[in-house]
Amino acid sequence: MASTTFTSLLCFCMVLEIFLSLVSGGSSASISSLQNDFVQCLNLNSDLPIPMSTFYTQKNSSFDSVLQSSAQNLRYLVTSVPKPALIFTPQTEAHVQSAVICSKQLGIHLRVRSGGHDYEGLSYVSMTETLFIMMDLANLRSVTVDIGDNSAWIQAGATIGEVYYRIAQKSKVHGFPAGLCTSLGIGGHITGGAYGSMMRKYGLGADNVMDARIVDANGRILDRAAMGEDLFWAIRGGGGASFGVILAWKIKLVPVPSIVTVFTITKSLEQGATKLVHRWQEIVDKLDEDLFIRVIIQPANKAGSSGGRTLTTSYNSLFLGTADRLLSIMEESFPELGLTKNDCMETSWIKSVLYIAGYPNGTPPEVLLQGKSLFKNYFKAKSDFVREPMTETGIDGLWKRLLEEDNPLMIWTPYGGMMSKISESQIAFPHRKGVVFMIQYLSIWSDGDKNPAKHMDWVRRLYNYMAPYVSKFPRETYVNYRDLDLGTNKNTSTSFIQASVWGAKYFKDNFDRLVQVKTKVDPDNFFRHEQSIPPLPLSLRATWTQSSS
Ligand SMILES: Cc1cc2nc3c(=O)[nH]c(=O)nc-3n(C[C@H](O)[C@H](O)[C@H](O)COP(=O)(O)OP(=O)(O)OC[C@H]3O[C@@H](n4cnc5c(N)ncnc54)[C@H](O)[C@@H]3O)c2cc1C
Ligand SMILES: *[C@@H]1O[C@H](CO)[C@@H](O)[C@H](O)[C@H]1NC(C)=O
Ligand SMILES: *[C@@H]1O[C@H](CO)[C@@H](O)[C@H](O)[C@H]1NC(C)=O
Repeated sequence: MASTTFTSLLCFCMVLEIFLSLVSGGSSASISSLQNDFVQCLNLNSDLPIPMSTFYTQKNSSFDSVLQSSAQNLRYLVTSVPKPALIFTPQTEAHVQSAVICSKQLGIHLRVRSGGHDYEGLSYVSMTETLFIMMDLANLRSVTVDIGDNSAWIQAGATIGEVYYRIAQKSKVHGFPAGLCTSLGIGGHITGGAYGSMMRKYGLGADNVMDARIVDANGRILDRAAMGEDLFWAIRGGGGASFGVILAWKIKLVPVPSIVTVFTITKSLEQGATKLVHRWQEIVDKLDEDLFIRVIIQPANKAGSSGGRTLTTSYNSLFLGTADRLLSIMEESFPELGLTKNDCMETSWIKSVLYIAGYPNGTPPEVLLQGKSLFKNYFKAKSDFVREPMTETGIDGLWKRLLEEDNPLMIWTPYGGMMSKISESQIAFPHRKGVVFMIQYLSIWSDGDKNPAKHMDWVRRLYNYMAPYVSKFPRETYVNYRDLDLGTNKNTSTSFIQASVWGAKYFKDNFDRLVQVKTKVDPDNFFRHEQSIPPLPLSLRATWTQSSS
């Protein structure tokens, strides 16, 4: 014991010396003392010295590239957005524990990043905290598949594409129902829900987890048995970074056929897109559960020499079965689309993952191991849930608005099937029975765009236009499509009343239970961000304890 302390003190002094030499040269006093205090504390709280190579100060020439590595929304990398004072890249679970303990002890705010796909950059920037450290879990990315047990343990820093690849490497007839985009990080993705092309058959990623390992606000590592069912409920759908740091999930694998079928059929406005999309709405939630057909809507140049713009609607689909069975289902349920055998491609499940994610035909599945995003850009997005099909007049108005924007994108994702069989309170993700489809609206722009505000404004006006056609009281929104327009916590003294406004949209009636869990496991609000779940204010806790006991 004594010798351990001595060794770690010795190492710590060496570490501190190296560290001081790194930061010397003029960073602001508060930043460098924060860095020192943090590194010092981590080493005091670790059995083994923490390698200096896990820290990136703002002065380090690699700081920007590490910060940018997985950041998906370039809108949050512009110079005016505050950057972390320090990036910490833990190599072990114990490092994560120490980081939580030390941030808490030193009163330093901590942001946690897994895959960096947060729509509002909340994993790597903060609009409300002046000084913060970013902990990037990219080194914690092991995926251990146990086919015999139908399960896998997957670490938070792995991407969902790596998980799919590792499963497929062991079996052609196992899969996992989560996101369509393969660079999503396990840590943030599953805790918000995680929908994808098998959701109508098997539900969400979060519906298919059996266990988790999490570091709580006291720096303890808890598995499902140790954290209890309330917290385990909250981290499945309750959104990232409110309850602790997820280290790993144990997921349940699902059966997939050795042959699946994919297709994409595109129709422009001139080819009758409006009537077809209207029809799609009427049947899509009632289709065979093996069939997922989403619609991707974007502008294109009109065919022919006449010029001008039109919109295209692409029916992008995965069917869990052969082309012949798909054709007979389509003949019965959606003949209007006119699907033919020529449109269908039979393939393996893992190749269907690449197809749906947008990789060119023939890309080897190994590309998934790179964990890279296919595209990064500046964007603003919002989401809605539709419970009654839109009228054709409503759709026409929507088209008109899409044609006014430079680079809009809309994705309609079908619900029904397993999604409507799971109760709204089963896990924290609530959008289930009666949802026909989910809409995502985006505007995308590129570097050097003169007027980003114009695009932000366009998305907001489109969202206003859609109000009559979508879910109401509350107007439901997907927490993994984080939208700060819905309101934000202003500072550490979060307001329960204010947070209920966006809380009801993301979580419906589950919001109250999320607040109760938060109050129990993190009453001091250590894990927080612009839209984190608030603990109950002290004044209300006594009443709540009485009424709930
Ligand atoms: C291009 C693109 C495609 C997408 N496609 C889909 C899709 O098909 N299906 C779908 O459901 N969603 C999709 N999403 C949304 C995606 O699920 C969310 O953005 C999700 O939060 C990303 O997780 P992440 O780990 O990559 O993000 P991060 O930015 O790292 O984290 C997101 C949030 O979770 C917190 N967090 C991160 N790691 C942890 C952890 N280990 N423990 C606790 N909190 C943590 C962060 O602090 C942050 O608040 C897509 C997003 C993008 C940008
Ligand atoms: C930057 O930080 C990394 C990781 O700590 C370290 O390996 C590297 O030497 C540093 N580079 C410079 C120029 O300080
Ligand atoms: C935090 O926000 C609340 C509500 O907006 C406000 O009353 C309070 O003064 C703020 N506190 C600090 C420290 O800024």
